[in-house]
Amino acid sequence: MKQILAIETSCDDTSVAVVGLRGYVHSVVSMNQDKAHAPFGGIVPEIAGRNHTEFLLPLIEQALEQAQQPWSEIHGVAVTNRPGLIGSLIVGLVTAKSISQARGIPLIGVNHLEGHLLAPFLRDQDYAPPEDFDFPYVGLAVSGGHTTLYHVPQWGRYEVLGATLDDAAGEAFDKFAKSLGLGWPGGAKVDQLAKLGDAKAFDFPRSMIHEDHLQMSFSGLKSSAQRKVESLSPQEIETNKSHLCASFQEAIVDVLIDRLSKAQKMLKIKKAVITGGVSANSRLRERGLQWAERAGVQLVIPPLRYCTDNAAMIGYAGLLRLQAGESHALNLGPSPASYPSDFVGENR
Ligand code: KG4
Ligand code: ZN
Repeated sequence: MKQILAIETSCDDTSVAVVGLRGYVHSVVSMNQDKAHAPFGGIVPEIAGRNHTEFLLPLIEQALEQAQQPWSEIHGVAVTNRPGLIGSLIVGLVTAKSISQARGIPLIGVNHLEGHLLAPFLRDQDYAPPEDFDFPYVGLAVSGGHTTLYHVPQWGRYEVLGATLDDAAGEAFDKFAKSLGLGWPGGAKVDQLAKLGDAKAFDFPRSMIHEDHLQMSFSGLKSSAQRKVESLSPQEIETNKSHLCASFQEAIVDVLIDRLSKAQKMLKIKKAVITGGVSANSRLRERGLQWAERAGVQLVIPPLRYCTDNAAMIGYAGLLRLQAGESHALNLGPSPASYPSDFVGENR
């Protein structure tokens, strides 16, 4: 197995990659649909599916061209088939099946979250994981759709230690941004404004932070921030915008770092990964690195291009599975949820 083509269409990003041995990314090309969904203040599944249909084939051509790989060098096709929006998954899955059949190469369906957790191992001209980084590690996948902590003792084994019981952290950022009129998705805007604000200006709740399990909750924070915004006049909101953002962001980051630290102490593992779109957050990165240094932990945050939804991470997961002898028949279906067998642990 040398190179594989990978397709990711589980949510609103259309992405295609050509990935080779040891996770080398020959190319990764993506189309972001934020502009199409922004007027609706969130992802509209129908629009996402329709756009994937338009974007996918040109992106496949582009990915092969950039990788300078002819079809004859592509030995498998990996596709996210779970979890995700059904209409979005179907576009990638049907395309991958057609390629598999037409080229006579194996098809492998990948769990999107396995992709996120393996992202630190990707490599390209500008990035390589630290030489001594390897399993086992504690993984925090934090995005608009997921906020979950994992123990990853070895490739293919993913133990769910805890997860949000309600909103994902990115979703909380987005809803808060919306209440301030910052548009959608607003996480990055909150991050920017927070740089100018005082994180102690408003006291927002850090739910469950003193409890000794690893679950998380952001709905109390979301409601508390919403009530605070509603209690202020438009003028007060304007003058306090950066303080509101900084205080809200600090509450989320406190919870995420607390959980990561608790998990690391419980497992006594000296390696950790933060991945997913929210790992773009500058305060989370800063606090994560501070914590890691204090705790003597090797923390890897993959470059942003491999943290946000992308096909390269799907390609690497697919490559490992194909190398291990796994492949799927053409009746492989999409699934909105992970398979129970994808994860181990009480919290899956
Ligand atoms: O992984 P991703 O691209 O897509 C999925 O949700 O799967 O993550 C997008 C999420 C959005 O909720 C967005 O607001 C959030 O990541 N995000 C951020 C930042 N950049 C993106 N949240 C906080 N600070 C940021 N700098
Ligand atoms: Zn994702």
